[in-house]
Amino acid sequence: MERFNAAVIGAGGMGKVHVEAALASPYVKELYVVDPDPERVKLWQGESRLKSASMEQILKDPTVRFITVATPNHLHLEHAGAAMKCGKAVLCEKPMGNTLQEAREMIRIEKETKSFCQIGFELRYSELYRIAKKWIDAGLIGEVVNIQTRYYCAESHGKNTWRSNSPEPGFLIGEKLSHYLDLQRFFFNADFESVYAVASPKVVSFCNHHDNHQIMTSFPGGKVGVLNFIMAIGETWNPDEKREMLEKQSDDGHALSYHICGTHGAIETDVFRRRIRRWEYSDAPETLQSRIVETVTFQPESDQAYFHNVYGQDLAVLELFAQGKESQMNTLDAYGTMKFCFAAELSELDGKIVFNSDSRL
Ligand SMILES: NC(=O)c1ccc[n+]([C@@H]2O[C@H](COP(=O)([O-])OP(=O)(O)OC[C@H]3O[C@@H](n4cnc5c(N)ncnc54)[C@H](O)[C@@H]3O)[C@@H](O)[C@H]2O)c1
Repeated sequence: MERFNAAVIGAGGMGKVHVEAALASPYVKELYVVDPDPERVKLWQGESRLKSASMEQILKDPTVRFITVATPNHLHLEHAGAAMKCGKAVLCEKPMGNTLQEAREMIRIEKETKSFCQIGFELRYSELYRIAKKWIDAGLIGEVVNIQTRYYCAESHGKNTWRSNSPEPGFLIGEKLSHYLDLQRFFFNADFESVYAVASPKVVSFCNHHDNHQIMTSFPGGKVGVLNFIMAIGETWNPDEKREMLEKQSDDGHALSYHICGTHGAIETDVFRRRIRRWEYSDAPETLQSRIVETVTFQPESDQAYFHNVYGQDLAVLELFAQGKESQMNTLDAYGTMKFCFAAELSELDGKIVFNSDSRL
């Protein structure tokens, strides 16, 4: 088994998970963490395999072969690009950048340097959505024709952060909804044909961008995807020792569900109920019979694996690289989702349908 040194750039909320996963990977020897904030690295004081380093140090150190980028979005191209140009393999957080030009430049660099590069759409590694995909691929619901996604959450980004300050009107589409639009691509196994999106006046006054998005998409064959997103409805989280988090959030305004409707059945994923179910349709003499035939639930200890499986994604990607395999979500593939996000933003700005062939994309 080949072991190598690795680095994580950006040790904030998400970087923390990347650090933990890298330390748990059997392929990683030493781990370097790059972050201008000294407080961040203090978290791992006493961890002998982890050292703080500068960007220059990790780029010129030939023993560092794998770099994870978890900095704010406007730095992704700079950091992932520099790493690939120095011959490193890269796992970069989504979105690929704040603009499509940045995303295209990342594709160009990956191609030119022939690097291993994976973009972190980790929901594709989450059990909840892997089960849905497995049922779809096994033909259990027939052909997927309509996907409804509902996402209601609390405002949790806070005032005066890079997230709330970002001025792009569709910032949250790339920052938050890219995961959920990516899953529509994953389940349909296709790219969008056209998008129509609208946003109502916002309620989160300190956000420089829209706080809600309603995105309706057509996919090849007349298939339809819908995503409804509202930030602020879910009750603000206050730890309550008597109530487990999702048990409370399942009925306080939070919602995160897919209804994936096929020609012979349907699938529902529901994060706040920790559940995935499958319906089967059959023709009866008088009507269409629909019945729930399969239900999978999971326990709080499995939240990470079932829901936002960044940890599992990282272990899998480190292994792909160590074994000389290709990335499972390269920049070109991820660009399909980036384009989808920007088409939705353009549609909101124009008040018109935006087609995949639009020359502005
Ligand atoms: N995949 C997911 O589910 C998921 C979830 C949350 C965030 N993210 C992504 O992860 C990235 C980071 O988000 P976050 O929530 O951790 O943000 P954060 O603000 O908590 O952390 C960002 C970190 O980057 C550091 N940083 C800033 N400039 C830097 C530089 N020049 N060099 C090195 N470090 C620098 C900051 O000091 C901070 O520690 C974003 O791209 C975000 O979209 C992904």
